Amino acid sequence: MMTKHLTLSNYIKLQLILSVACFCLVITFLPASAAQDNGDALYQYYCAQCHGEKGDGKGINATEDLPTQPKDFTSPKNLPVFTDEQIVNTIKQGGPKEQLSFIMPPWGDILSDEQIDVLKKLLRKICKCQYDPAAAAAAAAEAAKQKQ
Ligand code: HEC
Repeated sequence: MMTKHLTLSNYIKLQLILSVACFCLVITFLPASAAQDNGDALYQYYCAQCHGEKGDGKGINATEDLPTQPKDFTSPKNLPVFTDEQIVNTIKQGGPKEQLSFIMPPWGDILSDEQIDVLKKLLRKICKCQYDPAAAAAAAAEAAKQKQ
């Protein structure tokens, strides 16, 4: 005769099914949350004090006394002049290694290559721009003119 009560073996089966279901949920959502880590936390911690919370160059350390101001990353004009490699190298080794200001510190001892790559991608997202050789050539010509 069938009983309506949950027998012990059925109870164990139910528990097993539920724990497998939970495990599958965890597996499904873990990589998704990792993928959502777009570097914003890193940026806010290490970069925002100079480059600004939104990347507009208006961080609390970017006072008028700085000999070189951080540029506005939200403008489509500034980052296209740098290749991805130059951006990575600037973050890793600091401004002077890419003929930029020493005010931009080197982060290679603090951040991993993966974290620097994530930050580079975040900056490309903030400026909604990629490297543009024509913009780079125009900027180089302008800099050469100013030196004369
Ligand atoms: C102490 C202030 C300061 C901090 C902190 C700082 N930067 Fe900079 N950064 C600068 C300044 C100033 C420049 C501009 C250098 C120039 O134009 O000569 C710069 C330049 C750059 C550039 C080159 C592009 C450009 O606009 O010249 C990149 C890329 C960059 N910073 C990324 C970062 C990232 C990513 C972080 C955080 C890991 C960071 N910076 C933290 C001050 C800072």
